[in-house]
Amino acid sequence: MKIVMIHGQNHKGSTWNTANVLLNNISCDKEVEEFFLPRDLEHFCLGCYKCIEGRDKCPFWEEKKRIDDAILKADLLIFTTPNYCMMPSAPMKAFLDLFFTNWMSHKPYKEMFSKRAVVISTAAGMGAKKAAVLVADNLRHWCIPEVIQYGVQVQAMNWGMVPDKIKQKINKDMHRLGARLSKDKKVHIGIKTRFDFWLGCSMQKANWGASPSEKEYWEKQGWLDGAKPWK
Ligand SMILES: Cc1cc2nc3c(=O)[nH]c(=O)nc-3n(C[C@H](O)[C@H](O)[C@H](O)COP(=O)(O)O)c2cc1C
Repeated sequence: MKIVMIHGQNHKGSTWNTANVLLNNISCDKEVEEFFLPRDLEHFCLGCYKCIEGRDKCPFWEEKKRIDDAILKADLLIFTTPNYCMMPSAPMKAFLDLFFTNWMSHKPYKEMFSKRAVVISTAAGMGAKKAAVLVADNLRHWCIPEVIQYGVQVQAMNWGMVPDKIKQKINKDMHRLGARLSKDKKVHIGIKTRFDFWLGCSMQKANWGASPSEKEYWEKQGWLDGAKPWK
């Protein structure tokens, strides 16, 4: 299994360690690639909309391409972010902005329809689930059909300070999730993904896209003539 991890922080704290516990509980053969933000993509979206015309027109494409290539090849994506002020970290938000072309309403990649994703967030007190949901919802808009979110209150500023009882809970939860992800099951395309795809098709057919290049993209995939991005 090819796994790509996108960390919304440069350091290996409670959030990274929780994801690492999950990784250790995925029992099949795995190839893992990790990206840390902002280290591996130190930019904010400029709002220039050049990516709408073509992903490679983004001023930061050279750096983005390395991550984009890895994501496309992955079976499983693991996103991690500490909860900062009841939200995902700023580097994670900047990353999601830089990949907004992936949304169903723009130029979704057909590869996304066969992936799973996990989003992990930790908070000292409140808001880990909220931060995880915000990232997970974004990935659903990328057309990833199975996105699992996990938020945990660690009562700590770093992994060393996390009480044993909470570490035991994390171990138990990650053991269960790891077992689920280790099964070699085909990704299920649910009603939401199907409905969103239908909506995307209808939008492009009605010329409601952000640019004629979006409609061309959808036409080229055969999606406006009934082809589906899933098997
Ligand atoms: C800038 C900043 C904002 C934070 N905001 C919150 C918050 O709103 N709620 C909370 O419970 N913890 C908050 N925390 C604490 C972290 O979410 C918590 O310690 C988390 O487990 C850190 O993960 P890490 O060890 O991976 O960095 C904040 C920490 C920082 C540095």
